[in-house]
Amino acid sequence: MTVDEKIFDKGLANTIAAESSMSYIDGANGILEYVGIDIDSLARNSTFEESTYLLWNGTLPNQSQLNGLVDDLREEYALPGGVIDLIRTFPTDAAPMHALQTAVASLALHDPEADVNEPGPNVRKSIKLVAKTPAIVAAFDRHRKGLDIIEPDSSLDIASNFLWMLNGEKPTETMGKALDVCLILHADHGTNASTFTSLVVISTLSDMYSSMAAAIGALRGPLHGGANEGVMRMLEEIGSLDKVDAAIEQKLANKDKIMGFGHRVYKAVDPRATYLKTFTKGIAEDTGNQSLYEMSSRIEDIMNEKVGSRGIYPNVDFYSATTYHCLGLDLDLFTPLFAIARMVGWTGHCMEQLADNKLIRPGSAYIGPHGVDYTPISDR
Ligand code: ACO
Repeated sequence: MTVDEKIFDKGLANTIAAESSMSYIDGANGILEYVGIDIDSLARNSTFEESTYLLWNGTLPNQSQLNGLVDDLREEYALPGGVIDLIRTFPTDAAPMHALQTAVASLALHDPEADVNEPGPNVRKSIKLVAKTPAIVAAFDRHRKGLDIIEPDSSLDIASNFLWMLNGEKPTETMGKALDVCLILHADHGTNASTFTSLVVISTLSDMYSSMAAAIGALRGPLHGGANEGVMRMLEEIGSLDKVDAAIEQKLANKDKIMGFGHRVYKAVDPRATYLKTFTKGIAEDTGNQSLYEMSSRIEDIMNEKVGSRGIYPNVDFYSATTYHCLGLDLDLFTPLFAIARMVGWTGHCMEQLADNKLIRPGSAYIGPHGVDYTPISDR
């Protein structure tokens, strides 16, 4: 096929770039399934660990299979001493996503199997990455606040252990479960920008750690995972319910994007946002943050009225911002938390890619000049 015969698809919006058995998205009807199971059903009934097994293995585990994965993950909660030492050298005003990206890349230095691109070692690396990412985020947060770094507690699940390492207090069951649900909802989402980034890297037969570090870089942008921080900033900037209408109308008149709305694939409501809306209402009431929920709900009403007909609805980031705030997380930990969950999707898609690999290398349409004479520098 010549360059002329290829199709230029800006933003790859109409390009199928991979085959996957992990998550299915029906953007027109607002449906998301993990291996055929509706996301709402998983949020209500599953755990992050069980959903991880499902996404990686294509089936729900029986009890002994689940216990096996849970044990393997818990054995890998702790960070290598060298990674903790490295985190202690990070500037305390660094962005947590930069700290996370650097520390995830550094895990390769402490894994003798880092460059062994075979199924067994890649499963082990995936387990390490999912188990250790929460420890990295928590360790950096403690370091920047001048607090002791807390050892993981392997009697806890990933969500509760993260809150323990972050706060030095065992979370209540309700808080642990709230975070667990958020992790399930964010675990995978087709070939989104960060997952595609990880696939491009692994398709060169690079390694899992490099792929994950690249994916973290893609996730942090405000058009992708960074939007949850943008939502919280917007809510803080607006300040109160009575100022919502004027603020949103002004932003729309200025043609500003409203963070947490719109999606490349969903032209109906993102089903994760539907679930989170109800969930957020409860947690906001329990933690005395009703005003944030009320502001968010009002923003959604205005957006529905003004741009709903154009398929611009709340996405997963919109209500997750208030949920994370209610969980006591600092604003700049929202996107790292997304990365903790999405590590499951990134690693899973990379393992799928390696099972039937082809280098990902699209073309580009050259639009510059041809046949230009070289001008000596003295004549320019
Ligand atoms: N607020 C206001 N207008 C919007 C929004 C929004 N949030 N999103 C899209 N639009 C408008 C655009 O201004 C554009 O209008 P125009 O045709 O008059 O120029 C039109 O809708 C199409 O927007 P694009 O950005 O071209 O659509 P695309 O499919 O490329 O974008 C995206 C999807 C990037 C998510 C976009 O909706 C956006 O920027 N949203 C805000 C950021 C956000 O919430 N990102 C998180 C996405 S979910 C995730 O990554 C987990």
